[in-house]
Amino acid sequence: MKIFLDTANLQQIKEAANWGILDGVTTNPSLISMENIPFEDLVKEICRVVAGPVSVECVSTKAKDIIKEAKGLAKLADNIVVKIPICLEGLKAIKVLSSEGIHVNTTLIFSPLQALLAAKAGARYVSPFVGRLDDISHDGMDLVDQILTIFDNYGFETELIVASIRHPLHFVESALMGADIATVPFGVLEKIIKHPLTDIGMERFIKDWGKVKRG
Ligand code: E4P
Repeated sequence: MKIFLDTANLQQIKEAANWGILDGVTTNPSLISMENIPFEDLVKEICRVVAGPVSVECVSTKAKDIIKEAKGLAKLADNIVVKIPICLEGLKAIKVLSSEGIHVNTTLIFSPLQALLAAKAGARYVSPFVGRLDDISHDGMDLVDQILTIFDNYGFETELIVASIRHPLHFVESALMGADIATVPFGVLEKIIKHPLTDIGMERFIKDWGKVKRG
């Protein structure tokens, strides 16, 4: 399973990269807007720090504009993946960009058939937003399960990125379901590592080590 960090914050990205488990990064316009660094400089630096794919979102709404914007973004670094929201104009753009070898992450996926259409158009990734579905009393992880089944039924190579993860349980369920990738906020990633019994155990071992007789 690949782990992406869902942030545009360089400090968090550098820290997680040091942990040795980071496979990529996803950003979106809201995350980028929180950083006080010029857009292109920020994206280039993220792409330098992270060896894997870095998703950066297009905000154009017409296919020809999305294609132009995506091609501009793709030039910023070799590991850029352009993020395109699912919609009819987006589908047209995904088809063109994918056939030209530009990797697309289709974002704002809230139904299994949106994911199916994105995969058919050639998207490299689809991002179902589980937390935002939970927010409106729909089970976000059900959507992940449905998309995985559909992709498996038809042998799509499109990878599923579980997005809008809010807590460790989303991550656990993603792994149990066999999702290709989880994109995780830094705070959730930190929580996953910690366990009170690990802390207690470490403390006890260190204390007992002090009692060991050594020649
Ligand atoms: C990542 O691709 C998404 O943009 C992100 O996970 C959305 O998360 P949110 O619903 O917490 O804003």
